[in-house]
Amino acid sequence: MVDVPKDLIDEIKKLEEHFTVDTAKLKEITEHFINELTKGLSVEGGSIPMNPTWCMAMPTGEEQGTFLALDMGGTNLRVCEIILTDQKSEFDIIQSKYRMPEELKTGDADELWEYVADCLQQFVEAHHPGENLDKMHLGFTFSYPATQDYIDHGVLQRWTKGFDISGVEGENVVPMFEAAIARRGVPIKLTALINDTTGTLIASAYTDTKMKIGCIFGTGCNAAYFENTGSIPKLAHMKLPPDTPMAINCEWGAFDNEHKVLPRTPYDIIIDKDSPRPGQQAFEKMIAGLYLGELFRLVLVNLHDNEGVHIFEGQNIDKLRKAYTLDSSFLSLVEEDPFENLSETADLFQNKLSISPNRSELELIRRLAELIGTRAARLSACGVAAIAKKKGYESCHVGADGSVFNKYPHFKQRGAQALREILDWPEKKNQKEEDPIEILAAEDGSGVGAALIAALTLQRVKDGNMAGILHPENFK
Ligand code: GLC
Repeated sequence: MVDVPKDLIDEIKKLEEHFTVDTAKLKEITEHFINELTKGLSVEGGSIPMNPTWCMAMPTGEEQGTFLALDMGGTNLRVCEIILTDQKSEFDIIQSKYRMPEELKTGDADELWEYVADCLQQFVEAHHPGENLDKMHLGFTFSYPATQDYIDHGVLQRWTKGFDISGVEGENVVPMFEAAIARRGVPIKLTALINDTTGTLIASAYTDTKMKIGCIFGTGCNAAYFENTGSIPKLAHMKLPPDTPMAINCEWGAFDNEHKVLPRTPYDIIIDKDSPRPGQQAFEKMIAGLYLGELFRLVLVNLHDNEGVHIFEGQNIDKLRKAYTLDSSFLSLVEEDPFENLSETADLFQNKLSISPNRSELELIRRLAELIGTRAARLSACGVAAIAKKKGYESCHVGADGSVFNKYPHFKQRGAQALREILDWPEKKNQKEEDPIEILAAEDGSGVGAALIAALTLQRVKDGNMAGILHPENFK
């Protein structure tokens, strides 16, 4: 960065101080994380919900049957039909994707459920025209924090990922969904309400027996893993044998809502304050795709308006002033710019924001993107390390999905490097060597995972295990 003037270099240094999380801090966060996971399982609870899911077994690879799956994610709505075939760990899938209209996310509950039911109906009519279907088993991936007293029941604790629809928080979402379906006569019965992380864990374990943790690094950020019920004091009243496995949807986005360890910057504080649910999802707001572009934008606006340097001096930055105008794919493109002179970044700024950064400003922009992306990856690793340490997993696979994990440049390597630092692994002897804990691209959690959880649940009901089943008639 030879040509960058001193005042800009000073700003870059300040940003580096704000956004860099060193090894000692990563370790401190991880230790606190372990305590918070444990607290979440206790009767008193903590800020991480640690929701039992009533998914009570890992798949064997021998599961079979035909299932529908519906995924109401942060960005898309997807409907799938999945056939778990008689070949071990094999499946066939057909699917349709529908965009989740932006206005629905902050609209009213009826419109949301009507839209969801509509997509499902369209799918069933397109793929089974004129057929007189028996009710099909459906796994519904509802990726928001929900307390599940039963697998076919889920009380939304609060919306996350920018959703803000009144009349749903504190309510069981299953009857709302079922009512919309019944109005249309769609032939389904809800067999499992699941979280995307649990789906990811189960789908990945279907093809890889080393899988122990499922993670999503996408619009939101979260993980699931198995505990024994003996380690879940808040389930003691169920009197299940203590070695009964139970998948836990951590909802770790809520980690450190009380701001004890996370190194928040002034920009993180603004993101939180201006979000629909201030004080919630502290960890997620530093990591998830929904927020990375916004962090970047807030820093640039501040450097234009307030700091000594006044970047983009004399230019109209009105487009940049619009909140949430940049998503994480914008940052990805900045980090991917292959040219020494950052000409692609310059084009991006021109086309999207009508701003022409000078050469030094481009250097700052690139460094800022790296800092935000690196911090997200390193903080994510603390959650993975915490679960692994709590469970004593010295070597395992972690299945990960989501736009940030799959598309954000260097996210995987940066996360792996942070895990190495936290867990004190020696340097690799050669690049091909596996890390003791590897975070790998997952199988399709909200499609195949939802089908598998439905299949596993039907199987255990058949075997007489009725724990966490509210409507036994739906499990035939
Ligand atoms: C948010 C949701 C959580 C989901 C995650 C990833 O954190 O609260 O349920 O798993 O996003 O989609």
